[in-house]
Amino acid sequence: MKPTANLLVRGAREMLTMTGELPSRDAKGSWDPTPLGIVCDGAVAAHDGVIVAAGRTADVERAIDLAPDATVIDAGDRLLVPGLVDAHTHALFTGDRAHEFSLRMQGASYAEIAAGGGGIASTVRAVREADDAALARALGARLDRMRAFGVTTVEVKTGYALDTRHELRCLAIASAHAGVVPTFLPLHAVPPELRGSPDGRARYLALVADEMLPAVAAQGNARFIDAYIDGPGFSVAEARPVLERARSLGLRSRLHIGQFEDIGGAALAAEIGAASADHLEHVSDEGLHAMARAGVVGILLPGAAFSLGQSPPDARRMRALGVSLALATDCNPGTSRTENLPLMASFAVRQMGMTTVEAWWALTRVAASSLGCTHVGRIAEGLSADLTLLDLASWEALPYAFGAPVASWTSSRRRP
Ligand code: NIG
Ligand code: FE
Repeated sequence: MKPTANLLVRGAREMLTMTGELPSRDAKGSWDPTPLGIVCDGAVAAHDGVIVAAGRTADVERAIDLAPDATVIDAGDRLLVPGLVDAHTHALFTGDRAHEFSLRMQGASYAEIAAGGGGIASTVRAVREADDAALARALGARLDRMRAFGVTTVEVKTGYALDTRHELRCLAIASAHAGVVPTFLPLHAVPPELRGSPDGRARYLALVADEMLPAVAAQGNARFIDAYIDGPGFSVAEARPVLERARSLGLRSRLHIGQFEDIGGAALAAEIGAASADHLEHVSDEGLHAMARAGVVGILLPGAAFSLGQSPPDARRMRALGVSLALATDCNPGTSRTENLPLMASFAVRQMGMTTVEAWWALTRVAASSLGCTHVGRIAEGLSADLTLLDLASWEALPYAFGAPVASWTSSRRRP
């Protein structure tokens, strides 16, 4: 018996299923588009959000029974791809830090602004003051803009609340949005009320381990834990016990490491079996080796490097050392005020030595697997019908056509 479908997207000049195998890095193989699983005149049929057939349009149409009330979309010249996956954002925030950007453009550093009470602390004040509706509205508006770029799955970190009540509130708001994977980020900064006191740091670390973590685990909304392991953030010694405790409560790590300094975060990510280690502007070969051996995905955040005026990290070196790479926006009010994930591919291909084929993987399959969301990021029978139609002439146009919202249709968002 043929499967019934209530969604058919048909006639796409090019469809990328992302079902091939990404070869380990070699100069020739990485420009070979085979791993993209390209289908010409492609189609996808789905029923209630699950793909029931994918392939050439004539084959898909033969293989299904179309429900009388089905939605049928003619893709035409557009590119049909899996919904894109943004695996590192801080998209749940209110307030604006444009003035800090101006100060940075006049020579102030990110660390100086933070030391003066600005930076993360200023967003913490704004988030604590905002009511639930205002926070939900701000996140919803950002998710809508991300959809205009073809993004259907978004990791959202907390870290702008930094006390138990407000962190739980942020996790509840994030998890109420379909397509969002919430991450608890307690070790983002020492909260303003504890910064002044000599034992404030130690008290905050104890609060995180003894009160916040058990409360977050009991609430059940967070899927991951994050820590900012860097010069201006927390040390390996401070983060390790918190991350180990989190692991025993079922929260795997995804970490900020090496944005400003290499203080050993990559080795810790490998040691604790982190799902991802992100930023990587400053990480030694040894650290990258350890990540590759432990299967820790590296997530590059070109928007942050751009906004901070840093030299873009070398994706080619990381791939050569065996690290799987994803790309994300790092959408946040301080260092990367963007919702544009395809633009990150333009930066990565133009400035970081990533190939266009690798960039497609970095925006779909690798990002999805770092989040444990293996039902998205590919087009195949049985997977979620998280799809988007991009106004791009071919797969090669992803880094070439930069800046504009490229998605003219995106399937409705579901909870991951
Ligand atoms: O990924 N560096 C740590 N966290 C964010 C920035 C947060 C902020 O400045 O508000 C980042 O760059
Ligand atoms: Fe970040």
